[in-house]
Parts: sequence; C-alpha cells; structure tokens
Amino acid sequence: MKTIDLRSDTVTLPSPAMREAIYNAELGDDVFGEDPTTNRLEEMAADCMGKEAAMLVVSGTMGNLVCTLTHCRRGDEVILGDRSHTFLYEAGGMAVLGGIHPHTIVNQSDGTMRLEKIEAAIRGDNVHFPRTRLICLENTHNRCSGAALSVEYMKEVYALAKKHNLLVHLDGARIFNAAVALQVDVKELTCYADSVSFCLSKGLSAPVGSVICGTKWFVAEARRNRKVLGGGMRQCGIIAAAGITALEEMVDRIADDHANAKYLAQGIARIPGLSIEPEKVQTNIVYFNMTSTQIKAEELLKELGNKGIKILNLGPSRFRAVTHYGISSEDIDCTLTALGEIMNKS
Ligand SMILES: Cc1ncc(COP(=O)(O)O)c(C=O)c1O
Repeated sequence: MKTIDLRSDTVTLPSPAMREAIYNAELGDDVFGEDPTTNRLEEMAADCMGKEAAMLVVSGTMGNLVCTLTHCRRGDEVILGDRSHTFLYEAGGMAVLGGIHPHTIVNQSDGTMRLEKIEAAIRGDNVHFPRTRLICLENTHNRCSGAALSVEYMKEVYALAKKHNLLVHLDGARIFNAAVALQVDVKELTCYADSVSFCLSKGLSAPVGSVICGTKWFVAEARRNRKVLGGGMRQCGIIAAAGITALEEMVDRIADDHANAKYLAQGIARIPGLSIEPEKVQTNIVYFNMTSTQIKAEELLKELGNKGIKILNLGPSRFRAVTHYGISSEDIDCTLTALGEIMNKS
C-alpha cells in the first residue's frame, strides 16, 4: 500500500537528480571555507535572496537562532508573532542560549501583526525595560494557514523598523511558497528584511539544511555563532549539492503543491462533518476542523492510517495536511475519498 504522507513538507525525499548531485559532489572542509559545493550553494542563495552573503545551517531552527543571536545581545528584546514558529516550536532557543527576551504580538489570521501593535510594543529608553532590537516576520506563516505576507506588508513593517532603528529578521522557511503564491520574485519580499533564513528541506524537497542570508559582515558574525552552536560542518557539500538542485529545479513546481492544496481544501469543504475555509488556503498548508461529534480525532487518524494516509492532529478536532513534492493530485483524490468514506460511516 502506498503511503500518502500529508503531515508536513518536511517528509519529502530527495529527487533522483538530488541523489545524483549528492553522489557526485565535490567536497572539502567547510570550516576551512574549502568545500566548493557549499561555497557555490551559498553564492547562489545570496544572489537569489538579493543579499551580499549566505551560510548553510543544519535546520530552520538553527537558522532563526543564529540570526537572532547575531542581531541581539543579552537583555535585548525581539518582537514576534504569538503563533510564529520561532515562539512556539523552537524550544525558546533565543532565551535559553542568548538571554534574549521574546515579546509576542497577536498574529492575525492572515499571519500579520498589526502595525500599531508592533509600534506600541517598541520600548522607550528606560532602565526598567529590555532594549527592543529586532522584529521577526514569518512568510509564509505556518500556523496561520500558510498565509503569504504581501510585499506591501513587508515593506510597511520594514519602514516601521527603520523609523525606530530596529532590525528585521525573516523566517522564510517557506519563502519560495510565498513568492510563488504572490507571483513575485523572492527578492521583492526579502529586500524588506536585514536577514533571511530559508529552508531547503521543506517545499524545496532537499533532505537537510537551511540557508541564512544577509550582509557580508552579518554572515561573518553568524558563522561564529553557528560554530558556538556546534553547527560548523566539514564536508557539507553532501548537503549543499542537494540544495543547489533544489534551487535550480524545485522552485517552479511549488505551484503544483498550491494547486493540490486548494483542490484538497475544496474537496474537504464538501464533506459533511468537516469544516474549512478553502479561501484561506493560499499555499501548501491546509488546516481543517471536524465538526461531527460522532467520531473522535484519534479514530479519524487511525482509519486514515489504515488506508495509508497520514495527517497531523493539532487539537481536539483540528487537523493539518500539507502538500509537497511527494504528493500528486491522485493522492488528493484518494485522501478525499477516504475522508468522505470515514465521515459518511460515522
Ligand atoms: C515557519 C517555520 N520556521 C522554521 C521551522 C524550523 O525548521 P526546522 O524543522 O528545519 O528546524 C519550521 C519547521 O517546520 C517552520 O515551519
């Protein structure tokens, strides 16, 4: 039985071209700056994001942490969304390792934080307060239906940050999903951030890795912080090779994932006992609820599992399904049929 794994786009397996690139990668010691494949990936990534320099890191979590540690000193404060991945799911790394204080603002359902709320959160110069240093944005916004933050919004937040002499970090784990959904070049979004972290291992389907981008000075400092975290890697061209293929071959196909996600959302909307706002699905992430009380969430998951289908349960009756390179439109048909059958029975 084929497995249809919709839990996350992190479950993607490398493409045949990636495996070949990994096999053939030219390697060296990257801590000495001598891994040609990693150097090439970093040049490509910087160019693609419109930044001076870039650095490969192990994960999106490490990318966000390294950037935050590089922008901030102990006692500084970071303004970020209360549903942001960094706040919810990165083990409080900025506080644990950096002595950095997170200041959360409510994320609206479209992933934005209201500008007036951000401005109100910026601290004055007072001995009682931590120093506001950084604003973090997440685009696309995972917990907010995978929403793509618009170019205009990014520009407004950046202008606000500069007005108050603050820095902006973009958690762009899925920034290519945002660019594809908004039909803009990714640089039109990243130009409104001082640093960007994007993932190779999600929508772009590479097996490992994220890349952080910023000025040459910033990336040199970040390299030191990556070393502190034990993230200096040696022959990481093995990882970078797949990342290069990801940037070359996997960006345009993201549109298929978005079409599959919309198709899934529209199908779910027709199944009695499930509820969804299909118009909220802009990219590859689909959240839906179960309104029926005839069946428990665990039973739904179990029955889907029996049919080889995996989704995530995020609350008593809330679910997430994410489309990706490993999911075809036929897989969506199978998923909808299975959901329909299970809900019908209950
Ligand atoms: C928006 C966002 N940022 C950061 C991360 C962290 O990435 P990683 O799992 O590679 O640490 C994730 C992971 O799902 C994410 O969704």
